[in-house]
Amino acid sequence: GAPDTVSATGRGGGGAADVRAQNGGYLTTAQGARLPDSDHSLKAGPRGPVLLQDHHLREKITHFDHERIPERVVHARGAAAHGVFRGYGTAGAVTRAAFLAEGVETPVFVRFSTVLGSRGSADTVRDTRGFATKFYTTDGVFDLVGNNIPVFFIQDAIKFPDVVHAAKPHPDREIPQAQSAHDTFWDFVSLHTEATHHTLWNMSDRGIPRSYRMMEGFGVHTFRLVNAEGASALVKFHWKPRLGVHSLVWEEAQLIAGMDPDFHRRDLADAIEAGALPQWELGIQTFPDSPEQTFQGIDLLDPTKIVPEELAPVQPVGLMTLTANPTNFFAETEQVAFHPGHLVPGIDITDDPLLSGRLFSYLDTQITRLGGPNFAQIPINRTHAPVNDMLRDGFHQDAVHGGVAPYKPNSLDGGCPFFAGGTEHAYIEHPTPIAAASKVREAPASFADHFTQPRLFWLSLTSVEQQHVIAAYTFELSKVYEPAIRERTLGVLANVDPTLCAEVAAGLGLPTPEPTVALPQAEPSPALSQLGAEWPAE
Ligand code: HEM
Repeated sequence: GAPDTVSATGRGGGGAADVRAQNGGYLTTAQGARLPDSDHSLKAGPRGPVLLQDHHLREKITHFDHERIPERVVHARGAAAHGVFRGYGTAGAVTRAAFLAEGVETPVFVRFSTVLGSRGSADTVRDTRGFATKFYTTDGVFDLVGNNIPVFFIQDAIKFPDVVHAAKPHPDREIPQAQSAHDTFWDFVSLHTEATHHTLWNMSDRGIPRSYRMMEGFGVHTFRLVNAEGASALVKFHWKPRLGVHSLVWEEAQLIAGMDPDFHRRDLADAIEAGALPQWELGIQTFPDSPEQTFQGIDLLDPTKIVPEELAPVQPVGLMTLTANPTNFFAETEQVAFHPGHLVPGIDITDDPLLSGRLFSYLDTQITRLGGPNFAQIPINRTHAPVNDMLRDGFHQDAVHGGVAPYKPNSLDGGCPFFAGGTEHAYIEHPTPIAAASKVREAPASFADHFTQPRLFWLSLTSVEQQHVIAAYTFELSKVYEPAIRERTLGVLANVDPTLCAEVAAGLGLPTPEPTVALPQAEPSPALSQLGAEWPAE
């Protein structure tokens, strides 16, 4: 059963089809009774009433009536592929994760997605893209559930329902379908200015990728790696596409959304079928696991911050190749369930408060979306490692568990001790000290700088890219009905860059506000001052 085979054609070879699903030479009922006819209901005479006793009719229609499951609450629209990841062995000094060792090949399943649109929405809308990878390692499943943008809108998961409510279609008319200018989105991001960095990336060409094959991927949060000696390092994960990073221009994105709403999923499937197998290198930026968890003044627990690659180069640790399209969209792409808490020995989490909330949210939503607690048994979600758990019963239980004592220790079923040897367990958390503290509902002071890094990003762009950002803000804000929201957003842009603000204001026919914070230029952060001339202001 586990879907790890690779087809030569790329079509229908990714998931080894479950032989239980379709078998035998004749059409049957679900119970295996052979059927002579599936086109005519059983009736009292050719023109008479349909009979309730027609089991095949009732079974066929009842099953159809229940074919739909809820779409994901976010990232509903996606496309996926099977592939293989090969470790380079270069991460050995910082992690004992077995799948990163030299030459080790691990099957993977990758799902790309838009965030806000529903399952049937267009691919080329301006939005963040999900980039989620499931590694079926010999130590269990590791999920790297990332995006194509290296920062996030919010710093604390408790705001996630709020930002999604603001960004999804308006509750009265359910317009727009995907992220584009609308009052609630701009209301939220202008009131919660930690969203400025992510929003600026969205308004840049990164918000309208040319192809899933040409996107970077980012783990966003800082993770903790632990090596064979038990020493730890903090890291950020990066996927670098072999084809480079490319975007559409806005006019192309709009036209394609109408002419071929399936543009990105078609591009991915066609490329794989044609043998143009997409590849990404996985890389890590590493930082000392210091008690303050900062690097060059940048708070590593703040998911609205990057660490510039000039300060911490991305070191390649392996290569992923997508080799096969799914056999069945529903069984694989729709039912796959990623979780940032699916970790293997050598990889651990940090106290990023956004990550902490995610660790709760994914399993919780999947219990609803996939109809109960047993979705780890669905073929696409099955680990390739042996499973010996004490999880029992529940909706859609597929396993026939032996034994009488699903608890440990027990004196009835014998055997199966806890894993005692070596360091190869998962979930032996690195003994990070926690400072004595009182319970508080507040963010650290270091989370308060919302503008230094947006400005860093803005200054890193070429003048053509900057023009695209100006055009995007002007277009999106021109659709905002409430004048106060437009003006407040201009106030945010004034704190990023005077030119950006003035150009967008001019495009909207509004006055240019003054900044309310000292621009980083005047008081360079340690990170900015180190960058010096490498980030030219064009
Ligand atoms: C789904 C990424 C923050 C809740 C997803 C998916 C990705 C993703 C890639 C789609 C997975 C798939 O293809 O099936 C991220 C990233 C985040 C982030 C990179 C921030 C760094 C959050 C937060 C929450 C959240 C803070 C909630 C507290 C969800 C939920 C789903 C989801 C509920 C749907 C999962 C499902 O139905 O299987 N996210 N997300 N995400 N995310 Fe996030």
